[in-house]
Amino acid sequence: MKCVKVPLRQLNDTRIKLMEKGQMNMDYRIKALDEFGYIPINGDVEGYEIEDIELEPMKKVAHNFSELLEDELSSEEIENLKTSFDTIGDIVILEIPEELEDKKYKIGDAALKFTKRKAIYMKKSAIKGTIRIRDLEFLSGVDDSVTIHKEHGARLKLDVREVYFSPRLATERLRVSESVRDGEKILDMFCGIGPFPIVIAKNKKVDITAVDINPEAIKYLEENIGLNKLNGTIECHCGDIREVSKQFKTKFDRIIMNLPGLAYTFLDVAVDLIEDGGTINYYEFSDSYEQGIKRLSDACRNAKKNVEIINTRKVKSTSPGEWHVAIDGKISEK
Ligand SMILES: C[S@@+](CC[C@H](N)C(=O)[O-])C[C@H]1O[C@@H](n2cnc3c(N)ncnc32)[C@H](O)[C@@H]1O
Repeated sequence: MKCVKVPLRQLNDTRIKLMEKGQMNMDYRIKALDEFGYIPINGDVEGYEIEDIELEPMKKVAHNFSELLEDELSSEEIENLKTSFDTIGDIVILEIPEELEDKKYKIGDAALKFTKRKAIYMKKSAIKGTIRIRDLEFLSGVDDSVTIHKEHGARLKLDVREVYFSPRLATERLRVSESVRDGEKILDMFCGIGPFPIVIAKNKKVDITAVDINPEAIKYLEENIGLNKLNGTIECHCGDIREVSKQFKTKFDRIIMNLPGLAYTFLDVAVDLIEDGGTINYYEFSDSYEQGIKRLSDACRNAKKNVEIINTRKVKSTSPGEWHVAIDGKISEK
């Protein structure tokens, strides 16, 4: 390696001068030998004694996920992996395709180094069952699945193995929260650990009733109420909304129905519990809005009520051609 040779006492000053002029080769280590220092250079440098000696290359610090895996995977495989990252608090959940299963621990270690989070888990199943959770496999870091996720200034504690939570709904929660007016009585029929209630009650002076069938989700919602400074109130109920709702003595100005696979089977309950002029925030998986609008309209017709569709939007993509869609309907008595 071509080097500038200087007496050791001049080493530091010379190094800085060469660096300032962009003449130092940063890929190799400076060497001290006998009374001299050897500084690696890029090309010709005038005014110094030049010598060719062997130098140790700098240990390369990988700056990104791609660099960490470039010897293992193709750039296309790396790009696909990157889009699958879900960061929940200090935990990262990855989707690793079957053909890369044998490299899962290397991928997990790279993700840990790159993200500097506490733990990396891999999705082992789709979201399934009544309580909407998925199987996860621990890959790297510390196997502790409890974390606190921050969203719009709210702190949301949860166990990623025990409850449903998606950071990809953050924008939707903010959007709903912004459309809420102070004073509303709100029912979240499928509240999970309470991201809708917590974000809304942080921002608005409202009374929220939150229901979930998963006792773990309600346990975390109760903790989350304590973790956040709320303007509104949240009352928690654990159980099946169809049963729990029988004890409600009041109607609601807004009902949130985020159980997209099955919410339509509970539309009769929602339409019955909504106040005249109230809003239902209804969600489902679909390739269009028509199916959801028809379901909401049919439920209203059966209950002899009117619905005005006030907004529709795609919340997130779920699979090619299918979306998690939101439909907001204003319900009124005939
Ligand atoms: C898709 S998750 C949504 C959770 C939450 N709204 C959120 O955005 O994170 C649906 C939730 O509905 C709950 N659930 C399913 N069936 C239910 C029922 N019949 N009554 C009440 N909760 C139910 C599940 O336990 C799950 O937490």
